[in-house]
Amino acid sequence: LFAREWLFEKGVVAASGLPVDGRIEIAFAGRSNVGKSSLLNALVNQKGLARTSNTPGRTQELNLFSADGMPFRIVDMPGYGFAKAPLDAVEKWNKLIRRYLQGRVELARVFVLIDSRHGLKKNDLDILKMLDETAVSYQIVLTKTDKLKPGQIERVKQSVLDGIQRRPAAYPFIAVTSSEKKQGIDTLRGFIARLLND
Ligand code: GTP
Ligand code: MG
Repeated sequence: LFAREWLFEKGVVAASGLPVDGRIEIAFAGRSNVGKSSLLNALVNQKGLARTSNTPGRTQELNLFSADGMPFRIVDMPGYGFAKAPLDAVEKWNKLIRRYLQGRVELARVFVLIDSRHGLKKNDLDILKMLDETAVSYQIVLTKTDKLKPGQIERVKQSVLDGIQRRPAAYPFIAVTSSEKKQGIDTLRGFIARLLND
């Protein structure tokens, strides 16, 4: 499924720039620096596809990726919760994301990345709420688990599972990943494959 060459298609700053070919989309969302771009690169096994950086808040647009013959595209969403972001940038982000989530029937699932060291934070809960309100299916992905011991991973997994219980649009399985150590990546591919078969 991910063996083909994926290409950066375009960066979108307004909903009007989204493609209209009807192809399904799966998106990756999460706080700045949570590891969205890294996970995406691990998923398609292409190191330099999505730009990763140590500077939080680098991805400012919806970045669309596609591959020839693949029935879906991948969307790298701009990170949220960047403390130093100016207020108008936050407003812009909110507007773009809300528009995207509300109007995009092509959007099959949003993978919401959560740093395994931090668990669910206030702005994560804000986006989960937005997803529940817009009835967009989402699934939690724990990232950077190479930084934790197995017992700690289990604890954060349980607390996140508790946090999504009774949330209407949440898919009740969590993916536990490390892009660095390439752990959980196959499982995530499996979730995506299953999703596409639905
Ligand atoms: P923005 O685009 O700014 O929102 O960030 P992002 O969510 O795309 O994060 P990115 O993938 O750029 O990664 C941020 C930092 O975390 C980089 O320094 C990565 O090397 C590091 N990182 C990403 N994934 C992992 C991981 O699985 N383990 C470890 N240890 N570090 C990681
Ligand atoms: Mg990024």
